[in-house]
Amino acid sequence: MMPLLDLRLRRIRVGKKRFLPFLRPADDNETLLLRHLREGELYGLFLNRRQPVSMAVVADARAAFAAGSEDAAAAPGLAGLRVCECLALVTAEPFRGRGCAAQLLLRLCGLYDGDYDAMIVGTGDTPRMRRFYEGRCGFTPCFRRVNFFTRFYEGPLFEDGVQLRDMLVFCRFLRGGAA
Ligand SMILES: CC(C)(COP(=O)(O)OP(=O)(O)OC[C@H]1O[C@@H](n2cnc3c(N)ncnc32)[C@H](O)[C@@H]1OP(=O)(O)O)[C@@H](O)C(=O)NCCC(=O)NCCS
Repeated sequence: MMPLLDLRLRRIRVGKKRFLPFLRPADDNETLLLRHLREGELYGLFLNRRQPVSMAVVADARAAFAAGSEDAAAAPGLAGLRVCECLALVTAEPFRGRGCAAQLLLRLCGLYDGDYDAMIVGTGDTPRMRRFYEGRCGFTPCFRRVNFFTRFYEGPLFEDGVQLRDMLVFCRFLRGGAA
């Protein structure tokens, strides 16, 4: 399919909650989504300036990688680094499969490159998500948040016929301000 032309990247600072319905496919847990919106920075790729095509939140995750924390123990290579986390990545259904989410994620890596050492993103461990983050976006599998989907969600969650238990976290190193 043809890539979309004229996609503009915008950060939304005001009225972030109006995009909650757009972001819902990324997460069944609305409480978590609201927290992401509150604590993170919301970005979208917009077609013709107004139609959101892909959106995502980026949040500072340095506290999660401070010495002694659960994530730092699971990923010692990230301990003490300036880590940001991409949360709630979604492409509107009619635009899926055209490279929009990959474009957004890579542009966000570029935006955070100066101030952060690494970007992480967590997902259910399915072959499709591995193809997307590893194959398309150049992230590498890094660590697991054990039983994340059974701990924080009511009832079992399935994706592509696989029951989700652990969250698989992918990582991409950024330049962190290095020349
Ligand atoms: C996952 C998602 C963001 C991909 O968006 P996209 O704009 O279609 O992504 P791209 O076009 O850049 O890349 C498509 C690739 O994503 C992967 N993919 C993962 N889940 C997919 C899905 N549900 N539908 C289509 N592709 C999917 C495929 O590997 C596909 O590559 P392929 O065409 O070679 O098979 C989109 O499918 C979506 O919004 N899904 C619902 C929300 C979600 O699951 N978010 C991820 C939270 S971690």
